[in-house]
Order: sequence, then structure tokens, then C-alpha cells
Amino acid sequence: MSKNTDELFKNVIAHAKEYGFVFPSSEIYDGLSAVYDYGQFGSELKNNLKTYWWKAMVQMHENIVGIDSAIFMHPKIWKASGHVDGFSDPMIDNKDSNKRYRADQLLEDKIARYDKDGKTDKAEALQIAMDEALKNEDLPRLRELIIEHEIADPVSGTRNWTDVRQFNLMFSTQMGAIADDADLIYLRPETAQGIFVNYLNVQKSGRMKIPFGIAQIGKAFRNEVIARQFIIRMREFEQMEMQFFVRPGTEMEWYKQWKETRLQWHLALGTDEAKYRFHDHVKLAHYANAAVDIEYDFPFGFKEVEGIHSRTDFDLSQHQKFSGKKMQYFDPELDADGKPYGNYIPYVIETSIGLDRMFLLTMINAFDEEDLSTDEKQDSRTVLRLHPCLAPVKAAIFPLIKKDGLPEKAREIMDKLKLDFNLQYEEKDAIGKRYRRQDAIGTPFCITVDHQTLEDNTVTIRHRDTMQQERVAADDLDKIIGKLVSWKNLLS
Ligand code: GAP
Repeated sequence: MSKNTDELFKNVIAHAKEYGFVFPSSEIYDGLSAVYDYGQFGSELKNNLKTYWWKAMVQMHENIVGIDSAIFMHPKIWKASGHVDGFSDPMIDNKDSNKRYRADQLLEDKIARYDKDGKTDKAEALQIAMDEALKNEDLPRLRELIIEHEIADPVSGTRNWTDVRQFNLMFSTQMGAIADDADLIYLRPETAQGIFVNYLNVQKSGRMKIPFGIAQIGKAFRNEVIARQFIIRMREFEQMEMQFFVRPGTEMEWYKQWKETRLQWHLALGTDEAKYRFHDHVKLAHYANAAVDIEYDFPFGFKEVEGIHSRTDFDLSQHQKFSGKKMQYFDPELDADGKPYGNYIPYVIETSIGLDRMFLLTMINAFDEEDLSTDEKQDSRTVLRLHPCLAPVKAAIFPLIKKDGLPEKAREIMDKLKLDFNLQYEEKDAIGKRYRRQDAIGTPFCITVDHQTLEDNTVTIRHRDTMQQERVAADDLDKIIGKLVSWKNLLS
């Protein structure tokens, strides 16, 4: 990380805490590693991101519906899905610090460092060698690469490494009063399996015809060994996943289509296209025949935000095998020979985005420290240039002063608007300070009630990004705010 990007990242983390977006979990007990809480504005921003995703995926698609499945599921599900045997990371320990690291993560950091130092040849060669080793699950080779590239433990500074071993990422707990192996259940490491095991329930009850999708937003849990980069790698996090069920043989068309559709969802927020890139997987997960990541250029380098996976019929076939229940769909449509396609297990394209990573991306992208200095004085402001649809607070209402009936009038205006928009009322401090506080949480509009309001029922509206003010009729505020924060600006 260069000094500037390092500083930007540190500033965003500090800002997130200072302004009520993200707090370390259990902070008064010195925190819980890789677990975070969302504060009063963070939870609003997170909800708005969920709404944006849900509207785009469910509301805008007649053939996609949403569900909310339980976190606890039958333990056999994780045997069937391959997570019990295969959901693990290659770990390596440093013998001097006794710290444990993901071997691939150490190598990725080295690749990023080579890239930053302009050693692109070395970066590329290491990337290829690492991908090859991961693909072949060649753990000794991963260790060799760590040694060859002289990677030292950031804590002890030594290169005294153990062998590389696999470590399962699922959390487990007991269900029921008696702790017994038979009652061992897992906290889901992905929301997708809740969709797979419900696919026929939804298909039948909703009379869904292929192709169709099932979407879900929910918590997932992974015992990540390395807590890193703030909310990028958490032990408890949230996913927004959609499984799209298609006729076998058509999956690659849908895979391409969802890849594009999902990138457009990101770009509609106004993010610079150059900040995004696709990264095709070389090492495919046990369930996939094609997979790509949508990566974002975070201050610490490109990182996966979303995955699009062609999961074949792996999961449904496995559930059929392990549950003994038929997972087939009857397709009445006629093929080229005029015969019904009949019974088959659908293929699945999955789109899976990490809500917390999307949240961080949004904060970083919006964070701006603007220099407002003039010849006369030095000045600056911190402003979150969030899309108005995502802003936690849509408008703040200020009486110019705390007397002369202005607070009462401001509250009267607020009462008319608060059902439709999340608003804040503020009367403390000078107007300038109040503007700055709202800029810092990304509020797109500040409405000031002054003495003229009492005469002609007009107010000033100040726009966050331009800082321009205009005088408008108080009765028009619902239309003005409504138009600027309408989801139509993002989805149509
Ligand atoms: N169902 C497929 C699946 O879970 P994944 O690539 O393992 O695929 C999907 O996860 C997304 O979930 C990732 O792109 C990432 O944004 C997010 N994610 C995964 N692990 C995470 C973690 N430990 N903390 C925060 N987000 C995570």
C-alpha cells in the first residue's frame, strides 16, 4: 500500500467508527477478532444496499423470487455439499511467532507487492505458480513458493515455516440439551444451500418455470484463520446470493449474461469502471465448471467482491443422493424434435456478493476530503459522496436559530416528510457545523427553516456535493427529495 492509499484506508476505518457506521464487536472487552457491529448509520447504509440488490434481483425480474431460510440446517446438508470434507484453506504456521497464515494469502500479498514495485514479470510468474499449486492441491509446492520468494512472517520477521496443512472453516455447535456427536450442527458457511434444499418447495408453490431464480440475503459464518483488512474478511458476514436454475446445456449462456448483468449493477452506482475487473478462476471450487470474480481496486489492491459461478447440477444431485428425495424438475417445453424436455436436474448459475465487502467498497468510493481553502483562509470538509439512494439519512432539517418559532416550524415540516424519508432534526451549533456533520454521513440535502419560512412557507435546500443552495416551497419538498432519492435513478 502506498502512503496515500494506506492513509485513505486508515481514514475510512476511523471515519466509520467516529460517525457510527462500523464498530469493532465487543469493544469494551477489547473486541472479538474479525467480528464487527454496524452502527446507526452503518445499518441504514447496509439496509439500502440490501434494498438495491433485492429490487434489482427480485423486484425487477418476474422469474426470480426471494426466500429467507434458517441459518441452522440438517448436518447432512454440509456432507452432501462437500463442505465437511472440502471447505478448507491451506494454512502455514510460523514457528517463531506461532502465528498462523493462509498460505495462498501470503503469496497473494507478495504478488501485490511485486505489482506495486513494478515487478510485473515476477508477479505474473508467481500468480501462475500459485494457481497451479492450488488447482492441484499441492500443499508442499505452496510452501516451496513461500520459501523461494523469501516471504517472512510480518510478526517475527523470520522465514521459519511449518508444512502447509488444510484447515476446515466451518463453525460447529450442538443442538439440543445433550452434547453428543450426533447432534453436531454447523453454522452455514454460505446461504446458497438454504436455496438448494428449498428449490422444489419454491418451484412447486410458486409454479415457477425454468429458467427461474431464487434469491436470499443472510448471514454466513466462516472460521477465517486470518482476520484482515477490516470488514473484508470476517468470521460472521452477510451474503446476497441468487441461484438461477437453467436447462442443462444452456448454463454457459446464462453464466455470460449474469456476469454482465452483475457488473452493470455495480457500475450503475456511478463507480469508475476502471476500478472494477473480472478475474477468472483457475482453481475451481468443487461444485463449479466456470467461475469468475468481480474485483474492486481497494486501497490494498484488487479484491473479490462478488463471485459468479456455474455450479452445474452438483448441489442438487448431491442432495438427491444424500436425502434420497428426487430433486428433478419436469420441463414440459418441447425440444427441437418436438418432444418435451421431460425430467432433469437443473443446472445452476450463482451470483454471490458479500454485503460487507460491498459496504466497504461503497464507503471507500464515497469518502472525500475536499479542500475548500480560499486566499483568505484554509478550510476543508470530509464528505461521503454516497448515491442519494444509499445515503443513510436523506435530508436533515435545521431551524436557523433555536427561537422565534423556527424549531416548531421545522418540526412541522419534518413530521410531514418522516414517514417517506429517513430524516434528522438538528438545532445545535452554527449552520456551517451542522452542514459538516451531515456531509460526513453523506446526507444529500440539508433543509433550513428561517424567518422567511414563517412568512411564505419557503425553505432553503443545500445540496451536499455542490454546496449550492436554492429556495423552494416547503410543500414541494416531498417531490424534490422523492425525485432525487428515487430507486428509478438506479433501476429502470
Ligand atoms: N455460495 C458461494 C460462495 O459462498 P464465496 O466466493 O466463498 O462463494 C461469496 O463467497 C462472497 O462472499 C465473496 O465474493 C465475498 O464478497 C463474500 N465473503 C466470503 N468470505 C467472506 C468473509 N470471510 N468476510 C466477508 N465477506 C466474505
